[in-house]
Amino acid sequence: MPHPALQLDYGNVLTATVGAAHGLSPAEIKRSEAEVKAVVTQLERERKTGAHRYRDLPQDAEMRKAVHAAVRRYKGKFDNLVVLGIGGSALGNIALQTALNPAYHNLMAGTKRRGPRLFVMDNVDPVQVANLIETLGTGLRKTLFNVISKSGETAETAAQFLVTLDLLKRKLGKKAWTKNILVTTDPEGGTMRGIVDAEGFDALPVPPGVGGRFSVLSAVGLFSAGMCGIKIDKLLAGAAAMGDRVGTKVVKKNPAAMLALLLHAFYVRGKRLHVMMPYSYQLKDLSDWYRQLWAESLGKHIDLDGQPCAIGPTPLKALGATDQHSQVQLYREGPNDKVFIFLEVEKFAKDVKIPRVAGTPESLRYLQGRSLGALLNAEKRATEYALVASQRPCLTIRFPVVDECTVGQFIMLWEAATSIAGGLLNINAYDQPAVQMGKDFTFALMGRPGYEKQKKAFDRFAKRGGKHRV
Ligand code: PA5
Repeated sequence: MPHPALQLDYGNVLTATVGAAHGLSPAEIKRSEAEVKAVVTQLERERKTGAHRYRDLPQDAEMRKAVHAAVRRYKGKFDNLVVLGIGGSALGNIALQTALNPAYHNLMAGTKRRGPRLFVMDNVDPVQVANLIETLGTGLRKTLFNVISKSGETAETAAQFLVTLDLLKRKLGKKAWTKNILVTTDPEGGTMRGIVDAEGFDALPVPPGVGGRFSVLSAVGLFSAGMCGIKIDKLLAGAAAMGDRVGTKVVKKNPAAMLALLLHAFYVRGKRLHVMMPYSYQLKDLSDWYRQLWAESLGKHIDLDGQPCAIGPTPLKALGATDQHSQVQLYREGPNDKVFIFLEVEKFAKDVKIPRVAGTPESLRYLQGRSLGALLNAEKRATEYALVASQRPCLTIRFPVVDECTVGQFIMLWEAATSIAGGLLNINAYDQPAVQMGKDFTFALMGRPGYEKQKKAFDRFAKRGGKHRV
């Protein structure tokens, strides 16, 4: 395991700290270990037959070579990089950038930045898109668009892509415009692959067998990271090291197995809201990435035996210390139906000392000479203490530092925990059938041929709802 290693601290979910009514006893944990071990064993067996391919991404030399080569092709040639994608084709890119580049990276002078300004367009909000186009302005020639869509069918990404194609054609002229597009998509099939082949766009592959929300450690997340100066080899080394830890069948030594065991045990007891609360601005967008991974993977209504189940924890995010002033009242005194997952950083990359200022009132002098890092961590410990005092179970994932190595570990930790939790819930963690109906009805409402039946159904629905308005 490379230094520094992530640590999962589960002391504050135990009966000894949160009490018998809301905690887990060591005996209960022990009892669950055999079931978790069986799931881990099964997953490792299935990996040998090509399943759970995301686990092999850190060792995929060909993919890594292709990403490095693409970064070399484009680095230094563009001032702006715009990622067009949504869901698993965007959340990881945002999370890596927030975690591993300075907070105001895009506002830094070009000479100080480690790469182009990065914009991830993970929506089709017209004002946001129009604002981006205005912001790029005359800089369009120096803007690379990385279109990411495994399927190419996603309406949001397709719409963004069409807007971009038209813009580039109009502003850059026929010959030049294709040079500003790099497509990341399925290497073999799909709508986007067809467009790439027809237009001759440069392309990177989304590895077969790796679903969107498990793809951040592929070209999907690595290209924009590499372009912006993030050390992708170190990220993958961190993920590989965690890959070793999460493959072990000794549950107590396997942090993903322990996470899945504990969160599953609490789910069964009715604590179905899993709140991730980083005490670090750098880690805040990893909570968005976690929300998608945990929700889309585990929220299912048919289990692996074909039986109805309507199962799945609800992931929530909060930010320390900001949300202490927004959410903690509810978290301490509201329903005891949550597990808290704190993310704590031992050593911040930078720290700011609170100075001694003449005339500071006596009541504020305790702050003087201390650092903001010390204050933020004290707030985390104090909030955890307060939650535990209210019998609320709390986990902590401790980052010795936030760097590529620990972020790579974190990603692999949660991806593996998701697979294991899927096994414990007896559901397929890799599909998302419920998302399809919304997509189909969007197609219908936008007039896509073949969706006339859905349009009729929608019109009936709208008529019923339309009568009850105030
Ligand atoms: O996890 C998933 O599979 C989804 O969130 C997809 O990433 C998302 O729907 C985008 O799909 P695509 O990459 O095919 O455009």
